[in-house]
Amino acid sequence: MNYIPSKKSAVEISSDCLIIGVYNKNILSVAAEIINKNSNNLILNYLDDGDLISNIGEHRILTSVKNINAKRLLVVGLGDKEEFGIKEFKKANETAAKALLGYNLKNIANYLTLELKDSNIFYQGVRHSIESLHNNLYEFNELKSTSKKIIFSPENISLAIDENTDSKKINQSIEEADAISSGMLIAKNLGNLPANICTPSYLAKEAQKITKSFENLTTEVINETEMKKLEMHSLLSVTAGSKEPAKLIIMHYNGAGSKPPLVLVGKGVTFDTGGISIKPSAAMDEMKYDMCGAATAIGTMAVIAKLQLPINLKIVVPACENRPSSTATLPGDIVKSMSGKTIEILNTDAEGRLILCDALTYAERFKPEYIIDIATLTGACVIALGHHRTAIMSNDEKLSDLLSMAGEKSLDRAWKMPMGSEYEAQLKSNFADLANIGGRDGGMITAACFLGKFTKNMKWAHLDIAGTAWVSGAKKGSTGRPVPLLSEFIIQQSNADHQ
Ligand code: BES
Ligand code: MN
Ligand code: ZN
Repeated sequence: MNYIPSKKSAVEISSDCLIIGVYNKNILSVAAEIINKNSNNLILNYLDDGDLISNIGEHRILTSVKNINAKRLLVVGLGDKEEFGIKEFKKANETAAKALLGYNLKNIANYLTLELKDSNIFYQGVRHSIESLHNNLYEFNELKSTSKKIIFSPENISLAIDENTDSKKINQSIEEADAISSGMLIAKNLGNLPANICTPSYLAKEAQKITKSFENLTTEVINETEMKKLEMHSLLSVTAGSKEPAKLIIMHYNGAGSKPPLVLVGKGVTFDTGGISIKPSAAMDEMKYDMCGAATAIGTMAVIAKLQLPINLKIVVPACENRPSSTATLPGDIVKSMSGKTIEILNTDAEGRLILCDALTYAERFKPEYIIDIATLTGACVIALGHHRTAIMSNDEKLSDLLSMAGEKSLDRAWKMPMGSEYEAQLKSNFADLANIGGRDGGMITAACFLGKFTKNMKWAHLDIAGTAWVSGAKKGSTGRPVPLLSEFIIQQSNADHQ
């Protein structure tokens, strides 16, 4: 797909379909106004006759409109003009993309961008319009023998800009959106693959495959023998019941010499049965998504490597299955983590923290500027925040603020949650240094506190994505979140370093 910034007016631009908008109360968008003027009040007449609907989420397609060079006009509702902001802009773009799914059109012109008057918001808007398009074009059909493919696959998309647009900035927005969309695609595909295909070894192979496509990127994979040598007994206790070998995947992107790196650590449980503390069977298939932290880390790495940002980034992915068997870890077992701390495993279903603690300890050797783990860690997170926001818990105020702001800007939103010694106290064990569960109450926070015990020497944040990584129900599928949030955070870090 090519994105072409266009300064042509809405009547001049030629395309198979031109996307414009109308607001409530017969208020026209910039492009609608020009077309209306050149076509004898066509748009206003249609509005009066009820042939166009201005509510957000609505659309109509008009053909044979005279005095324009577009073959079709897709008119989307923009809602109330006073309330129109970046969120509404994104919604309108999603509506437009959905409306076009059944059409085989090659040249599209999107003139909704002219509604973004503020220049900062404009560049953000360009990103959202591209990302919305990619997200709506996504289907996971790889494993169907016969599949109805989406017909719409545009080749050229013109995006309207005005004379004040900075061409360097707009090209940068386009590049970023393209990279973020392809990172989300990687994350979504990995998430949607079932556990009999997407095993820890498969994840490792995919990481190696991605490595080959980019400059300045290298990957190492640590196997169980080496994990034993490293004394990662907490990680090993989770994989103990599985025949599939666990892998620790480490990717290094070097774009800034010897500067301290950013490190992402992603939970890669390719299937979580709960282990001996087995889960109930309802919706257990969705535990194939328990590697979405890993998928996010790998997807984000692909974004940064594609953009070749002047920054150092590493990802560490502990990948394994959590299954019951005669060799599985038992409730009450005590293991010694790589850090030396002993852990009483009171519930084998609280396995994410057991693999992450060793991965976090391992990552300490990189002396990170910031370290962020991403994990589908607790059901309690879904109870607290639902499916709308990712939870942020951190030992560094500045880092959690930066992540929260990156979430707002990318519309991949998050919310800061507290931590503290009163919660930490819930993790006391009578027999080991700490227990792996802290009771039902505040379950998301005690899980973060568990990880916090292994990150005391680093500026660390934990993202619980249990509610945001995938959607259930009729549209079941991976969301690719929080690749946009993390990409935005890293892009901003690299900008800050170079100012
Ligand atoms: N992967 C799950 C968390 C999860 C559950 C995410 C449902 C999304 C939807 C995690 O490993 C888990 O099982 N957590 C337990 C922890 C408990 C045993 C302390 C949970 O949340 O029930
Ligand atoms: Mn679990
Ligand atoms: Zn899990």
